[in-house]
Amino acid sequence: MSEPLVLGIETSCDETGVGIVRGTTLLADAVASSVEEHVRFGGVVPEVASRAHLEAMVPTIERACETAGVGLADVDAIAVTSGPGLAGALLVGVAAAKALALGLGKPLYGVNHLASHVAVDQLEHGRLPEPCLAMLVSGGHSSLLRVEDVTGHGRGVEPMGATIDDAAGEAFDKVARLLGLGFPGGPVIDREARSGSSVAIAFPRGLTARHDLERHRFDFSFSGLKTAVARWVEARERSGEPVPIADVAASFQEAVCDVLVRKALDAASSEGIEDLVIGGGVAANSRLRALAEERAGKLGIRVRVPRPGLCTDNGAMVAALGAEMVARGRTPSSLDLPADSSQPVTSVLV
Ligand code: KG4
Ligand code: ZN
Repeated sequence: MSEPLVLGIETSCDETGVGIVRGTTLLADAVASSVEEHVRFGGVVPEVASRAHLEAMVPTIERACETAGVGLADVDAIAVTSGPGLAGALLVGVAAAKALALGLGKPLYGVNHLASHVAVDQLEHGRLPEPCLAMLVSGGHSSLLRVEDVTGHGRGVEPMGATIDDAAGEAFDKVARLLGLGFPGGPVIDREARSGSSVAIAFPRGLTARHDLERHRFDFSFSGLKTAVARWVEARERSGEPVPIADVAASFQEAVCDVLVRKALDAASSEGIEDLVIGGGVAANSRLRALAEERAGKLGIRVRVPRPGLCTDNGAMVAALGAEMVARGRTPSSLDLPADSSQPVTSVLV
């Protein structure tokens, strides 16, 4: 029997994603982003995102089917992000998925956005090693997860740590804004940092002092770092000296990546886990990838990072997790599946 053909829908933030996979093979990954519409606000506006999802949904489904060379009638199951995310945005995806499941008479799987960020790696690097340690870093979340079973069975997905204030991507976005670099900040800072020095300015490493490690060994904090960058830039401007944008970007980026990698590897080592999977928009960061490889290698830990297009929000990741649900015989969701803006990571399938 051939592997299941699964269509996945993602609308938790500003990307309308529709992906189609067969088992662990990616057939289509259509994404329509409303990011341009949010630029002038310096961040995602939920109402604008919801409306954009509504307009993009049908054309994006059609584009995905065309790319995959399949018709909707060929699809064996529909998967959708049921949470966490922006409530109104999630609703659009969940409603579309229910309509498809009902209309086609196919099972529906409402899945967790964070677990999807982990499952997507299968599309690129083959079967996910379980258990693995997943670090998810994006504009909305920064978490360390112990993944025993990505579909949620048994110990399933257990949170080990998370940010206590800003998400890693949010820190990139805020620092880019204060440097006048635009939105989203991650890619521009990544680019600027290439011509700067990562040791030019000693920015703080949040929650790494001994007394913090007692309570927050695997947690992150980026708001102090953001404030430190703001103070440094202000002092520079007050003294009438030019702000060395590239050096600030490189030193800030180093502070974020240093803490992320340090804590992820500490978490993996503490659990005796030998595989680290990194996902989420910030996983596209070139320094994060390099630093993780370098330090993990010394500990005998393998690092898996999907290509940037699969790290940012997309429908393929939802389809990938949906296909895993089908393959492992999980019970489909009911058609009254709710969209849950604060769905906990321990709830992988609703
Ligand atoms: O996963 P994602 O597309 O959406 C959310 O779920 O948030 O992540 C978007 C975030 C933004 O904060 C963006 O600045 C950040 O990922 N990002 C990066 C890079 N590319 C995107 N951060 C650092 N370096 C990058 N190259
Ligand atoms: Zn995400």
